[in-house]
Formats: sequence, C-alpha cells, structure tokens
Amino acid sequence: MPLVTFVTADGEKVDVDAKIGRSLMEAATDADVDGIDADCGGGCSCATCHVHVHEDWTEVVGRPNDLEAEMLEFEDSSNERSRLSCQIEMTDDMAGLVLEVAAED
Ligand code: FES
Repeated sequence: MPLVTFVTADGEKVDVDAKIGRSLMEAATDADVDGIDADCGGGCSCATCHVHVHEDWTEVVGRPNDLEAEMLEFEDSSNERSRLSCQIEMTDDMAGLVLEVAAED
C-alpha cells in the first residue's frame, strides 16, 4: 500500500499505509496519528480531522468541496492548504503525500 506521512503538531512524522479508495482520515485513525480524532466518523461535521496539505501536494489533492469549505471557515487554524482528511480519498498519485495535522482550536 502507498505511504502517506502525517506530521503531528509536535513535529513527529508518522508514515501510514493508505489504502486506495479509503479516506486519509481512516488511514490516520488506523495508525493512531495524534491529533486526528475524527469525532463524527467521517461525516464532514466535526473538523477534528483537519490537516494542512504540504505545499508540494496541493494540486494533486485538490480543493475542499462546498460543505467541507464551510466547516473549515470556523477553524482558527484554517489556511489555503486546509482540508478535512475524511474528505480526501486516497489515489495512486498521492503516494508519498505529506499532511500536517492542524493545531486544535
Ligand atoms: S471526521 Fe469529522 S469532519 Fe472529518
């Protein structure tokens, strides 16, 4: 399975296996990545799976959908690279992707 790297708020780098077709939130919670709580279970309604996509990967990952963008508006740590990891489906071309876990508000 392709690897994705999560960088936690403490700067720890955690490499996780990300199965094609599953969300990156699921890959993170399977590996107990610190700071990815996923309280709503992937329903795009809690923002506890908020990440910042590394600048080298923003085009590959793409932009938030409308509902996701609305959720991110309420996050103090939101920026132009913000995504909710439950809304990102792993694809082949994301192998090697780096995501920074957003600081909790
Ligand atoms: S898991 Fe709740 S918004 Fe992503």
